[in-house]
Amino acid sequence: MPGRVLSVASECVPLVKTGGLADVVGALPKALAPLGWDMRVLIPAYRGLAAKLGRKTRTVWSDPALFGGPATVEAVEAQGLSLLLLDAPHLYDRPGGPYSDGGHDFPDNPERFAALSWVAASLARGGGTDGWVPDILHAHDWQAGFAPAYLRFGGPAPVKSVITIHNIAFQGHASPERLAALRLPLHEFHAGSLEYYGNLSSLKAGLVHADRITTVSPTYAEELMRPEFGMGLQGVIDARAEVLSGILNGVDTDLWDPAAPGQAHPYSVQNRKPKAEARAALLAEFGLGPVEGPLAIVISRLTAQKGIDLIAAAAPEFLAGGGGLVVLGSGDPGLEHAMRGLAAAWPDRVGVKIGYDEALGHRMFAGGDVVLVPSRFEPCGLTQLYGLRYGTLPVVAATGGLADTVVHANTMALAAGTATGLTFHPTDVLALTQTLRRCLALFADRATWARMQRAAMKSPVGWETSSRTYAALYEDLLT
Ligand code: ADP
Ligand code: GLC
Repeated sequence: MPGRVLSVASECVPLVKTGGLADVVGALPKALAPLGWDMRVLIPAYRGLAAKLGRKTRTVWSDPALFGGPATVEAVEAQGLSLLLLDAPHLYDRPGGPYSDGGHDFPDNPERFAALSWVAASLARGGGTDGWVPDILHAHDWQAGFAPAYLRFGGPAPVKSVITIHNIAFQGHASPERLAALRLPLHEFHAGSLEYYGNLSSLKAGLVHADRITTVSPTYAEELMRPEFGMGLQGVIDARAEVLSGILNGVDTDLWDPAAPGQAHPYSVQNRKPKAEARAALLAEFGLGPVEGPLAIVISRLTAQKGIDLIAAAAPEFLAGGGGLVVLGSGDPGLEHAMRGLAAAWPDRVGVKIGYDEALGHRMFAGGDVVLVPSRFEPCGLTQLYGLRYGTLPVVAATGGLADTVVHANTMALAAGTATGLTFHPTDVLALTQTLRRCLALFADRATWARMQRAAMKSPVGWETSSRTYAALYEDLLT
């Protein structure tokens, strides 16, 4: 039964990453291959990306006029992935990140990602020149949202489609004046299709037109149908509840391996030392003094979603109680300022690096005692999974995938030896403060802490279960 899947997304590890989407898109093909699924990943050829691969590519699709300029799709096998790079210099060859020049979103983002979706649909229709035609198109997030819609418009869809919601907060809004430029039929601009409160929404388009909808944890799948979490799309999702499923993300256990030998891979941990040494090295790297209590780490986009403001408010009591804190992240200038403020106030106990640094992230998981994830909403979250794997116990808000992956140290779980971290609810300063207090006490109980670390490191954070669930969903679609 297994077949071919075209996965289409804006990010993919190890080529381009701003968040967990990239980790998942890069890990899925490897997780599905042993089950017989041939998954290729279509992503934009952002500036320098093809050169970074340093491999010969094969042109498998071309169009002299794709949304205003010439474009090709270049196939290449690299990093264990079958990649399809959409090379369209007028859309993607520019300085900055995938979505912005560093400060502002690119004004033509609707066109840039509609073009990606258009090409995905074209490949799914058999438009490629190398004979590879997928059985299923798998779109990720708003950037690929129009792909299932393009497949449907103008005749019966030739292949089945799935859309995965990694984060409902990003919905791909655009003015309806762009309909024609985005190659969308005017008559589809209504509430049952592309229209969303007077605008276009590429995510909504995908949710309406895909055959299946998935999101990245079972709890988030339920939350999405409630107004507090659905961000305006709860009705659209609720109406399609029968095709919705929540499939937990896994992590790439090769890239995130606390025992990795010093391999040359850019994501490897050059570190097999016990945690105490890694911890000492991390404290030294940030110029911190001795920290007798738990060393907490935060590796995150610094945004309201991630509850970083709560950390700023709750940290002082934790630090005064003997804790330490190391933060790596970037994002909202106000939150960056708040984190720098903490470091200035507690120079011996708080280290902050504003920026993005994959290797440092690995060293922090290796050296930290606790990973803090006080998110207001979290579709899945990956950092708590990396924490589990590294024996860096997660302290997390009980929402979305965080609630599905961390076993709270309640009395029963401690007695049974299954506790792996601390969860709290609601996501507010008081609950976080109380939980950090509890964390200080638990850490002081060395035997219990060590037991929790062992349970955490045994947590099944890989893709074994979820890859089978995706495979079952694909098989179901094809029968
Ligand atoms: P989200 O996708 O919402 O940002 P996830 O927890 O799913 O949250 O994934 C975040 C990913 O990005 C993780 O792999 C995390 O380690 C990584 N990450 C986030 N910020 C940074 C940073 N500043 N430096 C290095 N890695 C980061
Ligand atoms: C999103 C979510 C995060 C999830 C990631 C990968 O960025 O915010 O919770 O882990 O996608 O699915």
